[in-house]
Amino acid sequence: MLKKWWHNTIGYQIYPKSFQDTNGDGVGDLKGITAHLDDLADLGINVIWLCPVNKSPMKDHGYDISDYEEIDPMFGSKDDLKELIREADSRGIRILMDLVVNHTSSEHPWFQRALADPDGEYGKYYIIQEGRDGKAPNNWRSIFGGSAWERIGDSNRYYLHLFTKWQPDLNWENPALRREIYEMVNRWLDLGIRGFRVDAISHLKKDFSCPDLPANGADGLADGFAYFTNAEGIGAYFQDLKENTFARYDAMTIGEVDEGLPPDTLAEYIGDNGYFSTIFDFCHSIFHVNAPQWKDKPVAMMDAIKKLLFEKQEMIRGRGLLCNYLENHDLSRTVERFIPESEIDFYSSSLVGGINFFLPGIVFLYQGQAIGMRDFRKDRLDAFRDPTTFVLYEEQIKNGMTAEEAFDQINRESREHSRTPMQWSSAPNAGFSTAEPWFAVNPNYHSINYEAQKKDPDSLYAFYKKMIALRKSGDFQELFIYGAFTPLYEEESGVIAYRRSDGKRDVLIINNAKPAKTTLLLPGAVQSILLSNYDTVVINDGVIELKRYQMAVIELQ
Ligand code: NOJ
Ligand code: CA
Repeated sequence: MLKKWWHNTIGYQIYPKSFQDTNGDGVGDLKGITAHLDDLADLGINVIWLCPVNKSPMKDHGYDISDYEEIDPMFGSKDDLKELIREADSRGIRILMDLVVNHTSSEHPWFQRALADPDGEYGKYYIIQEGRDGKAPNNWRSIFGGSAWERIGDSNRYYLHLFTKWQPDLNWENPALRREIYEMVNRWLDLGIRGFRVDAISHLKKDFSCPDLPANGADGLADGFAYFTNAEGIGAYFQDLKENTFARYDAMTIGEVDEGLPPDTLAEYIGDNGYFSTIFDFCHSIFHVNAPQWKDKPVAMMDAIKKLLFEKQEMIRGRGLLCNYLENHDLSRTVERFIPESEIDFYSSSLVGGINFFLPGIVFLYQGQAIGMRDFRKDRLDAFRDPTTFVLYEEQIKNGMTAEEAFDQINRESREHSRTPMQWSSAPNAGFSTAEPWFAVNPNYHSINYEAQKKDPDSLYAFYKKMIALRKSGDFQELFIYGAFTPLYEEESGVIAYRRSDGKRDVLIINNAKPAKTTLLLPGAVQSILLSNYDTVVINDGVIELKRYQMAVIELQ
């Protein structure tokens, strides 16, 4: 594998709206991020990915961009961004932005011009088609519910939106559109941005070869994923994008792929000459201890997670680096998803953080993860803030759920849970803002907050800091990035264990991901214990005894 600057990334994702408000309007801003750079440097991270900060009507909280060139005034100004880049740089932290180019906002001037003249130049920037027999061009369902087509006025024309109707899809077939995008990307790179997380890449190309598909829901619509996910020929777009932008700046890029990629295409995407540096996939997002499939089977679920994590490593083995992350702004908090409620405490939370931390790959944390922020269940539907939540709710009702069932499901799985304001301290509003926050703070901030954990050497935050320090430490950094990966104790239920070795060193990572102790015969003599979430690691005569949810990183002789 060719070595790249971003291979040692310990990334940190920021959801700017909920990170830190500095001007008392209840919404986080860029100055708020700059104000916390010392805290982020203290944790040990070296890359920040900012969720979208471009001008936006915020129908999808910034994933609906109405001006690619500007910063939304809600977040501040371009000067604020430049200051953030400068200040971050002086602490060895690089800034990545979110590149949302599968679609724009319906308020983007390009789209407004397209609506005014669908046959004109800008009509070709979007995907506009004639209806069929008074109906939409086909029966695809949007990823966020409802038809993927919206009628233009009372004409017989429709535009495609794979997400909300406020997010019309761009037409990547059009070279003029692509050129505009490349120039825009390069302007941000010229400004000092070091790369991008690229939104929804799997959907850039659509295959319209098939008319209506068999309906699979009460709405009469069909799931068209097979036709708009990784469609044949999509790689040519990525290659062109890369050559005209990222490659010229040695930029780091993380493509957001939906459910993962066909294994035989992984190297094409993230190999030495891949389209992207790495990918975020959603493979582990399907696991939830309270989902019907896993209810009362949390250990079996951990085994399934292990299988998936290890299979992915097998697929990419030595050809590129996957991204080891657990949380983001589209998922509820990991401890809620992976650990039964009655078992959530420091030990299980620290264990969860370590599950994929030492696997080959680059690491990404989400704001609040290192202090163990939790989901904040709502008592009313209108306490949620995301238009998509309401569309999904309506959809479930249409599919036959009662109002209570639909609300329960939203409360369990809503992506909004991760968007509650960052819990900095026990000051009012968790120190996030002096005004009422745009989205309610989790009332548990008195016991879960950064300030308290930073002072406490036994806190979850302190544990994350130790994991990061170990992954980055001179002696082990190369081993954890490039060292060989060998699964261990694969048949041992509830145990997620593997070995990392590089010919010079041999390190064992064992996670006892269950609420019962486990004894295992070690595969070699112990040199030293590098890390554990318990004070002691009991080893007698080559046998290790792990307590409930104990994890240990052990160097072997
Ligand atoms: C993925 C983003 O992470 C999500 O928040 C957004 O709603 C969709 N892409 C559409 O841009
Ligand atoms: Ca603000």
